[in-house]
Amino acid sequence: MIQRPRGTRDFPPEEMEKRRFLESRFRREAELYGFREIATPIFENTELFTLKSGPNILDEIYSFEDKGGRQIALRPELTAPTMRFFVNDLTNYPRPLKVFYFGQCFRYERPQSGRYREFFQFGAELIGAPNPESDAEVIGLAAQMVSGSGLGAYNIRLGHIGVLRDKLREAGVPTESMPPILQKLDKKLYDEARPLMSKAGMSLASMEDVIGTTGIVGPPSVLDDYPGEASDYLKEVLSILADYGTVNVQVDLGVVRGLDYYTGIVFEMDAPCLGAEKQICGGGSYSLTELFGGEKVFSTGFAIGFDRTLLALEREGLTPPPRKLDAYVVPTSDAMRRQAYVVVAQLRKAGISADVDLMRRSVGKNLKYADSIGAKKVVIVGEKEAAQASVTLRDLGSGKQELVPLDGIVAALK
Ligand code: HAM
Repeated sequence: MIQRPRGTRDFPPEEMEKRRFLESRFRREAELYGFREIATPIFENTELFTLKSGPNILDEIYSFEDKGGRQIALRPELTAPTMRFFVNDLTNYPRPLKVFYFGQCFRYERPQSGRYREFFQFGAELIGAPNPESDAEVIGLAAQMVSGSGLGAYNIRLGHIGVLRDKLREAGVPTESMPPILQKLDKKLYDEARPLMSKAGMSLASMEDVIGTTGIVGPPSVLDDYPGEASDYLKEVLSILADYGTVNVQVDLGVVRGLDYYTGIVFEMDAPCLGAEKQICGGGSYSLTELFGGEKVFSTGFAIGFDRTLLALEREGLTPPPRKLDAYVVPTSDAMRRQAYVVVAQLRKAGISADVDLMRRSVGKNLKYADSIGAKKVVIVGEKEAAQASVTLRDLGSGKQELVPLDGIVAALK
């Protein structure tokens, strides 16, 4: 048997129904906030992802040479593709430009529960306005999407990358040395961050100050101990979020984010029920356009880990039951098959989900089959009924049967 590649999944019908259900909820919220959908290619020129992050990112992504000798990568995320698209074709749109996307991403990771090599992100980017109200709008949408999905237990951790960057700069760390340090701090790998900070010329005291800052978590008042521009900015974002009624937000100056492009606020959302891979959303403000050949434009965005959110909803028992077929049409003999096709066509035309026997089964076997696929009703098309221009309608739940005239069947099923 040929197996699927490691870290990928197949989705059976029940799973796809849950996925489409969540997708449609997310889509509805994004549209309610005035965001419009875009789509970009699943593969891009590798350079799009290495320009900001450097060649190290190649270890974490799927990249290859195509037959024309081009370096190609499967997209690991959709922010860089969205910004490339913006620079290529969307700069004339009125701003702020609010877009959302839903699609698969690929990362060369060690697969485990909630972490895959092919996974799906539902994300949004607000392009063109570097201010607290834009940031609050984006965080508010992320929060609304997660709470609107029905998830009960989640939290939002909000920080500002400027707080740590300022401290590193004050301690004499050059900008180009910051990414590896920030990446270690992001993962709270302090023992690995210390030698990097020391190499960048930081004193012991400033190193411990930076590490201490990553542990600052709590209500907005914790910012009082960290006066400065970044802190004032965060306070404003938090107060707008309060106006919007966004709940479950706390300050966390340890939110650093794994990706290198953030310049301002950064935030993450967790679903504690997921354990190790509990982060269901990540985002922040950034500017990438100038890197891709455009003018500098600030944006704020986020991506929700679609698969993880679904896992969390399942753990909370909140995914919808499988969809049921409204009616299954059973001819009682070969002679009645043509009549059965006419009936099933009539139901489908009226918007009733209906199926008909395609296996030439006996009535008994058809009833069993209808039960196994969870059909709500069976429409029995028989000679006796036909003589009265009727069919028998059987409720599979109660077992009750009734004779229904052919022209009343749609009404009876609705
Ligand atoms: P990210 O934090 O790398 O951010 O990914 C966003 C979310 O995708 C994560 O919070 C997580 O839920 C999910 N995710 C990441 N990797 C995996 C995986 N291997 N398996 C399953 N789920 C995963 C970004 O990608 C940024 N582009 C977000 C953003 C948009 N920032 C600004 N705009």
